[in-house]
Amino acid sequence: MDTLIEMKGIKKNFGDIAALRDGYFSLSVGEIHSIVGENGAGKSTLMKILYGLHSPDEGEITFAGGGGAETVSSLSPKKAISHGIGMVHQEFMLASEMTVLENVILGFEPRKGIGIDRAAAIAKIEEYGSAYNLGVRHGAKIRDISVGEAQRVEIIKILYRGANIIILDEPTAVLTPMEAAKLFKILRSMKEGGKSIIFISHKLDEVMAISDRITVMRGGVHVSTLDSAKTSIPELARLMVGRDIFLGGSPPPARPGNTVLEIDNIWVPGEKELSKLRGVSLEVKSGEILGIAGVNGNGQSELAEAAAGLRPIQRGSVKLLGRAIESASPLERRRAGMSHIPEDRNTMGLNRHTDLKDNFICSSFREPPISSRGVIDRDKARETAKERMEAFDVRPCDPDAPAQSLSGGNAQKVVVSREMGYDAPFLLAAQPTRGVDIGSIEKIRGELNKARERGAAVLLISSDLEEILALSDRIAVMYEGRITGILQRSEADEENVGLLMTGHPAEDTKGV
Ligand SMILES: Nc1ncnc2c1ncn2[C@@H]1O[C@H](COP(=O)(O)OP(=O)(O)OP(=O)(O)O)[C@@H](O)[C@H]1O
Ligand SMILES: [Mg+2]
Repeated sequence: MDTLIEMKGIKKNFGDIAALRDGYFSLSVGEIHSIVGENGAGKSTLMKILYGLHSPDEGEITFAGGGGAETVSSLSPKKAISHGIGMVHQEFMLASEMTVLENVILGFEPRKGIGIDRAAAIAKIEEYGSAYNLGVRHGAKIRDISVGEAQRVEIIKILYRGANIIILDEPTAVLTPMEAAKLFKILRSMKEGGKSIIFISHKLDEVMAISDRITVMRGGVHVSTLDSAKTSIPELARLMVGRDIFLGGSPPPARPGNTVLEIDNIWVPGEKELSKLRGVSLEVKSGEILGIAGVNGNGQSELAEAAAGLRPIQRGSVKLLGRAIESASPLERRRAGMSHIPEDRNTMGLNRHTDLKDNFICSSFREPPISSRGVIDRDKARETAKERMEAFDVRPCDPDAPAQSLSGGNAQKVVVSREMGYDAPFLLAAQPTRGVDIGSIEKIRGELNKARERGAAVLLISSDLEEILALSDRIAVMYEGRITGILQRSEADEENVGLLMTGHPAEDTKGV
């Protein structure tokens, strides 16, 4: 295989945190090369160095290229682009009020006289569309398109800038299985077209299915680079985490108790037409996990927000432990016994502009033991945060660190550990394991089961069908703002849930 890029001996510190201690990576022409590793292992940092967003403290990067090799100690984004490198980030970076076309050409507008040559740009977008299965609607605004389509726009944008090397940082974390399958088709056709692809993911089954080679990182160090044909998921997990991981096994049968959450015929305005809730009713009992399955954008986010008090309800009622809460504020709902892991850690779960201890006390700072006579006890806050972070192995475990310095998965663990720490009677868990590594998935799923065993009612919303099937006692499927069926764990499988998810009524579903 022809080596295209080699990164050697890469070191990078952020203050006294060593993000990379001995990073190594090599990329061959026309391969799909995955990078796996625990949260905070340094995957994103290594790739941001390759894309010129961070300068390494030590190490070298060699480009083999046609015109002779070139070795550099760091890159600028401009230099990276000139070497044909493009990156789709873990958190999307599109302007939501602008159209697909405007986002693609931003900063690289094709000129025609003094104007912009829109026709040329559109032709180019359509060309990518047919060459690589990258269908997008160039006139649509970003805010009106699905995550899957937004991701295709991100890919087109970097191809438009001439990328031959495409870095995708956890592209499937926000995708449904169907959208992910579509993305893999795109990656394969780009590979056939001679592009080289770097793929970061925590989903090891995807990694095994799509990669030619796999690099494992741990604690900022390169552990191994393997041929995917010669390794296995258990081996990868062991190399990543340093121990065996066990995700299987079903929990003991549910012993549901009294009704904790009762949603009755709610109608809620939607982000989009298809996602408005049209008469949703459900109950979650003490000691059970009710899973909500569905293709993204069919009202799951609206349901979570309506339950949490973040979105107004037009009609219908919500009761928590028998008390009507549909007009209560989020804080009042928390006081009435609700905790909430929101689906988006960045915009809803964390205040990224403050430190971690403040993020831990954000809904408890008014009360003892955190506050007494109107004064916040910072030491107590630090202690609480530290305890919760240790329980979920947040790295680095520093309550004084700024929230935005955490890696994606560690930020998610902060939100989960805070919300699960309240031992609330009702837990609303939306995408609880999004972006976390396999060891932490094991931990978070274990904690959800423990919450159920101590008698909490859990409403689990996840676009990961495997997760829904693994954890739920009952599964409600949403389609176009309605619940199209509720299945018991014993009668649900990927096939019948999948059918309901695409709007096909199943014959054997129980009453709603
Ligand atoms: N801008 C920054 N400031 C301070 N620390 C940082 C910064 N960026 C990353 N780090 C730290 O560097 C380490 C590696 O982070 P990185 O984002 O590369 O991890 P990752 O492997 O991508 O993890 P994840 O799977 O959670 O996304 C982490 O400990 C993180 O907290
Ligand atoms: Mg990352």
